[in-house]
Amino acid sequence: MSVIAFKCPDIRVTVVDINQERIKAWNDTDLENLPIYEPGLKDIVATARGRNLFFSTDIDQAIDQADMIFISVNTPTKTYGKGKGQAADLKYIELCARNIARVAKDDKIVIEKSTLPVRTAQAIKNILDNTGNHVNFEILSNPEFLAEGTAINDLLNADRVLIGGDSTPGGEAAKQALSSIYENWLPKERILLTNVWSSELSKLVANAFLAQRISSINSISALCEKTDANVDEVAKAIGLDSRIGPKFLNASVGFGGSCFQKDILNLVYIAKSYGLEEVANYWDQVIKINDYQKQRFADTILSTLYNTVAGKKIVFYGWAFKKDTNDTRESAAIYVADALLEEQAEIVVYDPKVSEQQIYADLDRLNTRSEQENRRLLRVSKDPLDSVDDAHAIAVLTEWDEFKTLDWEKIYTKMLKPSFVFDGRRILDSNKLNGIGFKYYRIGES
Ligand code: UDX
Repeated sequence: MSVIAFKCPDIRVTVVDINQERIKAWNDTDLENLPIYEPGLKDIVATARGRNLFFSTDIDQAIDQADMIFISVNTPTKTYGKGKGQAADLKYIELCARNIARVAKDDKIVIEKSTLPVRTAQAIKNILDNTGNHVNFEILSNPEFLAEGTAINDLLNADRVLIGGDSTPGGEAAKQALSSIYENWLPKERILLTNVWSSELSKLVANAFLAQRISSINSISALCEKTDANVDEVAKAIGLDSRIGPKFLNASVGFGGSCFQKDILNLVYIAKSYGLEEVANYWDQVIKINDYQKQRFADTILSTLYNTVAGKKIVFYGWAFKKDTNDTRESAAIYVADALLEEQAEIVVYDPKVSEQQIYADLDRLNTRSEQENRRLLRVSKDPLDSVDDAHAIAVLTEWDEFKTLDWEKIYTKMLKPSFVFDGRRILDSNKLNGIGFKYYRIGES
């Protein structure tokens, strides 16, 4: 919404949320306090806020005044009832729809921005049509393809924008209205108009394909570790085939983030609900390999440290699910830590952007052990060098650039010998680290 406001000064954009703290932070005069860390976002908010970008908790007023309403609430995987662990939880979407229905006094275009199961638009339409004040609602699906850490650039230079809607005259007009907003900065050829179900499904499928690439290369990384092949060399060799392409082939400790797992689970659930077991199993395998990769990394640490990590200090460099974000949702680090804590390891975490509170919250949520136990076994450090005294091992969980330029000689002198480094992101210089004396292991190489 900030980017839309930034690029379209004539459009008034109001972002509303029931969470007062969050809105307060979005309105904070100190731009360092915005609730999301995202490169470039601060400048965009600084330009547009107060001009045509507003943040408010007055939801009803904003609905009343709007021509278009984007629903962008979260749709987490259900943790209860039917479809638990797989289906998307649509309660927040439904609450939004009911709120819009109650308040709207004139025609509105309602846009699904949240990632949703196929056919949700129909459910939203039913709620709006049956509980509303008999105004006309056009429902569009406009999935978001931005990736965190590069969000602003992804929006400003989007590969494509997808707009799904009905092919009735009203639906076509609504699609055009939304398209004209994006046309302020994107060429028209990149704006795809589809039916609403294609649009909804495409979002899930795009994420499933991306995640599948990572699981594919990660499965090969396990094979590389058993042979003398090097996963980067394999990735490069196959990526040069223009049909395969080079992107998203970085072997890692496993993908994280709020989207990939959730969307695949959702796809699996939808396939199952239509009786397509083979399709469901096929996509489920992408998640299974991802879980395997995280477990494998933890197992490698354990077996390399002579099959016991009890009481041994292991330093985690990175907790975020990838660099340049403070987002930790589904981060591989959480699961690797959990596995090592089960072995009574003592973990110290350093991440340049993630707060201590967040790290503990992520662990506590797993319910593997008590909160006290998590705090006893895991500590959070604010300095990458202070944390390594007497450590047996360092594990790189997030590919933050700063890890590459740390003073590795100094780190080596502080650690116990032999000093192990487990690089789950393949970002460190193996010649340099081996030269210093480290026992350096990285994913995808023997
Ligand atoms: C993803 C999609 O890229 C985006 O289009 C969609 O809108 C939301 O989901 P995001 O979750 O922000 O975006 O991050 P992304 O860059 O896709 O990375 C996801 C995870 O995969 C991260 O944990 C990342 O470290 C990992 N990854 C990515 C790899 O392990 N290897 C790769 O080659 C690429």
